[in-house]
Amino acid sequence: MPPSSTSTAMAPSSSSVSSAATAPAVAGEKPPLLELVNLWKRFGDGPAQVTAVSNVNLKIREGEFVCLVGPSGCGKSTLFNMVGGLLPADDDGSILMHGRPMADGALLGKVSFMPQRDLLFAWRNVVDNAILGLEVEGTPKAAARARALEMLPDFGLKGFEKHYPHQLSGGMRQRVALMRTFLFERDMILLDEPFGALDALTRAMMQRWLLDIWARYRRTVLFITHDIDEAIFLGDRVVVMTSRPGTIKCDEVIELPRPRDAGIVTSPEFIEIKRRLLGAIEEEARKSFVSTTGGAG
Ligand SMILES: Nc1ncnc2c1ncn2[C@@H]1O[C@H](COP(=O)(O)OP(=O)(O)OP(=O)(O)O)[C@@H](O)[C@H]1O
Ligand SMILES: [Mg+2]
Repeated sequence: MPPSSTSTAMAPSSSSVSSAATAPAVAGEKPPLLELVNLWKRFGDGPAQVTAVSNVNLKIREGEFVCLVGPSGCGKSTLFNMVGGLLPADDDGSILMHGRPMADGALLGKVSFMPQRDLLFAWRNVVDNAILGLEVEGTPKAAARARALEMLPDFGLKGFEKHYPHQLSGGMRQRVALMRTFLFERDMILLDEPFGALDALTRAMMQRWLLDIWARYRRTVLFITHDIDEAIFLGDRVVVMTSRPGTIKCDEVIELPRPRDAGIVTSPEFIEIKRRLLGAIEEEARKSFVSTTGGAG
């Protein structure tokens, strides 16, 4: 059974480019679900060292849908891997969940995540791919399968439970991978460009479907994307990262009403938000292009 669709207070009330990431906590206020404090990640040593992420400060409240955008190579997946517990952060900073600092390794299992690459196993059918995480966690197979079968219609996969990945469309494969993340009853879901490989039409359908699922299952989502329209359409906030070393450039609260339908992308409000964010992103994309090509092209 999906949890109730009751909406919680999500976006901070301030408008436009905000200081949501750094606003001081009010006494007695519930701590954010996730807080990143001065987060850094450097790879390697000496002159060959690459600083992927630098001084990231970000707060995500329970129930929020936060989209993270930024140029290729700016450190989005690195940040995702640190929050997912797959990669230790450098010692400079900390990751807090519900106000408590998380030690290295302790984050694994606290969030559920869908990495940038599709990780369905060719030899497992839809249900067995979906329950993989539950199985690893120790849930008995029969119970895990029963939960997956209950969720199947919500994920548009009813009747396909015995199909193998090669028998599915791209959108269906993504829904199996998403179902795997939703089957974990975690407070927070991390999605790294889940629709990146889909054609535009399927992608638009999947975005609307994801908002519907999110409204029903009410999880907190951190969603990485290159696509600014996708970020504005989905998010309560859009956080823009600078070119590498990636840090937060701006954090915009998206005050578009929900539920959102396809037509909202042509509204003057949407276009105005997009104009503002595009300026910030394009500036960073240019810097990234110059630093990785020497300005050629
Ligand atoms: N394990 C690693 N070892 C060394 N360098 C790494 C490692 N992982 C990432 N990097 C480097 O860190 C930087 C950020 O990479 P990351 O994958 O986080 O970028 P991204 O923003 O997710 O890019 P994209 O949008 O293309 O997916 C890149 O310069 C990359 O080469
Ligand atoms: Mg990435």
